[in-house]
Amino acid sequence: MHAFYDPTRTYEENLAEGPFGVPEVTAPTMPATAELWGNPVSSPFGIPAGPLVGSATCAAAFRLGFDVNVYKTVRTRAHRAHRFPNTLAVHLDGDLTSDTPMPLLADDAWGTARSISNSFGVPSSDPDVWQADMARAVAAAGDGQLLVGSFQGTTGSGDGSVDAYVADHVLAARLVAETGARAMEMNLSCPNEGTSNLLCFDPELVTRIAGAVKDQIGDTPLVLKLAYFQDDAALERLVALTDGIVDGYAAINTLPARLVDASGAQALPGEGREVSGVCGGAIRWAGLEMIERLAALRERRGSDVTLIGVGGVLTVADFTALREAGADAVMSATGAMLDPLLGQKVRAAAAR
Ligand SMILES: Cc1cc2nc3c(=O)[nH]c(=O)nc-3n(C[C@H](O)[C@H](O)[C@H](O)COP(=O)(O)O)c2cc1C
Repeated sequence: MHAFYDPTRTYEENLAEGPFGVPEVTAPTMPATAELWGNPVSSPFGIPAGPLVGSATCAAAFRLGFDVNVYKTVRTRAHRAHRFPNTLAVHLDGDLTSDTPMPLLADDAWGTARSISNSFGVPSSDPDVWQADMARAVAAAGDGQLLVGSFQGTTGSGDGSVDAYVADHVLAARLVAETGARAMEMNLSCPNEGTSNLLCFDPELVTRIAGAVKDQIGDTPLVLKLAYFQDDAALERLVALTDGIVDGYAAINTLPARLVDASGAQALPGEGREVSGVCGGAIRWAGLEMIERLAALRERRGSDVTLIGVGGVLTVADFTALREAGADAVMSATGAMLDPLLGQKVRAAAAR
């Protein structure tokens, strides 16, 4: 059993009936130990976009002492989830790198697996539904806690032009701002739309979209959610173009891998799902490396952009390593699903 998001149930069940597997524990209010964009936070730690599919699950995360939580990515119109299953256990000891022999075994034998795959296709309800629910999630944050709203644009919006794609991001940001969210994150790294066309690898378009979104939302902090960049020059260019526009970067999303079941057949059913995103312990190295590179760029450029470290954080030591590498805040999706008390453990370390 995993906490917050139950992989054995559909996305719709998790949304309607979740959270599952969450202990009846209420973490006490704790004085702030950090600040994010002027918001005092008890600990600079929480759950990134993903496991928290709705307000009830966000409320459970806040109750358990995860202090900076992201409501799973929404769109400007309803969008169906990929076929079940959407999360599988990935059996890999050690790191997932470009040298890792493919394919990887992925199935529902959760056992002690420390890495998982997620393949949702960024489902969304209609804004009429998610706006009211996200507003409830915003209200569930207590003193020293912060709800971040995640959104993305949809390719093929309107007349299918680039202008319409930009406008769809702006509309999504406006809809999120209307919920009262005090910070938002734009997902540029959705791996299920094909790694070759991840938006974060198109710096000119990101710059245009980020500028248009900031014109819309004004002072509300905007974070760009990035994938792992192989190419240093590409990362440097993206940062050079956008660090004067946006307020933060969150890195990383998942790393792609080809997944098969024990018979060697494609693990996740359906076209375009041969390769899927892997998260958890196997990608820790990549999240840490990206924060080290982003922190070095920040220092070199004299910028004060906020860095959120994500990827393979399963323990307090993983949190500390990312903080020491320069992350202003740290988030854990897989780790929170494996250990719903991780927030309280990190709080204890943050208070020392
Ligand atoms: C169940 C699940 C759903 C996810 N959905 C999203 C999403 O909607 N938007 C997004 O930006 N990232 C999504 N992610 C990626 C996480 O935010 C995070 O970047 C990734 O899981 C790496 O962190 P981890 O190793 O702690 O799991 C999802 C992750 C999981 C486990």
